[in-house]
Amino acid sequence: MEIKLSGKRALVTGANSGIGEAIALALGQAGAKVVVNYLANPADANAVVQRIKAAGSDALAIEGDISKADTVAAMFTQMDQAWGGVDILVNNAGVDGSRAEGWAADPAAWKRVIEINLFGAFNCSREALKRMVAQKGGVVLNISSVHEIIAWSGYSAYTASKAAIGMMAKTFAQEAAPYNVRVLSLAPGAIKTAINRSVWSDPRGLRDLIEKIPMNRMGEADEIGRMAVVLASDVASYVTGRTIYVDGGMTDYPDFAHGG
Ligand code: BGC
Repeated sequence: MEIKLSGKRALVTGANSGIGEAIALALGQAGAKVVVNYLANPADANAVVQRIKAAGSDALAIEGDISKADTVAAMFTQMDQAWGGVDILVNNAGVDGSRAEGWAADPAAWKRVIEINLFGAFNCSREALKRMVAQKGGVVLNISSVHEIIAWSGYSAYTASKAAIGMMAKTFAQEAAPYNVRVLSLAPGAIKTAINRSVWSDPRGLRDLIEKIPMNRMGEADEIGRMAVVLASDVASYVTGRTIYVDGGMTDYPDFAHGG
């Protein structure tokens, strides 16, 4: 089966690197027009735009801090002006934050992670859903994490933001379903990108991480990109309100391969 997204207008946040870049490219290759949102490194965003154009679709780089509601509103207005609206939103931009146990965490740093990961997804969902409900069609796909359900010492703001995204998506899905709008989340496991470079570039860190993955390897960003295309397309026309894990089995508690 070939998945076609021709004519669809997509916006991917944080699309100039890592998983976001892979999703933007995969959507573009499937025929969607893609807004490549980014916060820093415009050259990287422009490179993604060029690759999507080379694949035969259209793309547009828009700079914008998703944690700011006004900035997000302006970004969607710019997209309206360019292409007349939005059909697919991928809430991808996010940060892990710096490691600190809860009792040692800096409140300002904790809040910033929530502002980017949760309010960012909220701000973009709000603008997209407004338009999708009115046009009676669209898909909002949140990039969550295995840490939506797996605790991660030192990263309580991150885990809290991802758990919240899952529940926010379920609630939006319930609200928007009567309008033919699907809202769901894709939860990657350990995907080899810059966000976790410090882990995979250290042999000990990598060995420890691999032990947590039944498939014995990290995932590639493209494996998330491909799944995002599936979930954003009509192949998944009856899927809404769920979190789909794409994690090589990480949420399968690999320690239970023995004993128990
Ligand atoms: C984090 C990565 C981490 C992975 C598995 C992701 O949500 O962003 O840094 O490697 O979860 O723990």
